[in-house]
Amino acid sequence: MPFDPLPESLTELLGRPDTERLRAVELGCGDGRLLGLLRRSGLACLGVDRMPRAAGSTAEVRGDACQPPLRPGSLDLVLAANLVRHLLPAQPTLGFLETWLGLLKPGGSIFILEDEPTGTTPAAAHYRDLQDFLARLWPSARGPLVTGSEFRRRLPPAVATRVADFGTGANHWPQDADAVVAMLRAGAPAAGGEAARLADAIAADGLACSRQWWCRLIASQDLGGQT
Ligand SMILES: C[S@@+](CC[C@H](N)C(=O)[O-])C[C@H]1O[C@@H](n2cnc3c(N)ncnc32)[C@H](O)[C@@H]1O
Repeated sequence: MPFDPLPESLTELLGRPDTERLRAVELGCGDGRLLGLLRRSGLACLGVDRMPRAAGSTAEVRGDACQPPLRPGSLDLVLAANLVRHLLPAQPTLGFLETWLGLLKPGGSIFILEDEPTGTTPAAAHYRDLQDFLARLWPSARGPLVTGSEFRRRLPPAVATRVADFGTGANHWPQDADAVVAMLRAGAPAAGGEAARLADAIAADGLACSRQWWCRLIASQDLGGQT
């Protein structure tokens, strides 16, 4: 889900007088909610996703975010929102980050944004449980939510030196709890089973992302976009 508010360092970048000249890509853009937000800020951002448009993706380019079909050293900005959790099962050591840094022009930025699963309200706990449940349904395609501190711990040393901003904060983006309850109940889940219990809990308490974390990596100015 998108993020509200966006991290301050991203908002600053989007507010620059030359924003519309930045060459930007959102990897794993999905249904385009964040992409829409970015474009309304004046960023001419390209969307990439492995999902075809027929399945609801808004991506102009279909491809794997781990090997994006994009020219190395060609971008000012790479965004990946709620994508890292999908890539971790196949690449737990975050090898894709070296590839993304290689896409950047010198001084270009990567922004990674994710839900932070440490919210303490019932609605935040249900969101975390929902993501765990979905990860168990499709273990090869998605993992559970990962905390910002766990992500930082996994950063390869050469990539860790490129961290320019890292933080956690509130995420007020509203969740459509009714739609999620309907989705969970659509398959007529067994009474007392996990899907039914989750649907009942969300119907009672609601659903909230609650918190987010972000990490900005900057490509070296002197190594031509390499780490
Ligand atoms: C949770 S959605 C996030 C959508 C959007 N970025 C947002 O924040 O609203 C994750 C998206 O990543 C895409 N995805 C997952 N693994 C991918 C991969 N290896 N390559 C490209 N897209 C991928 C999925 O198809 C899905 O559209």
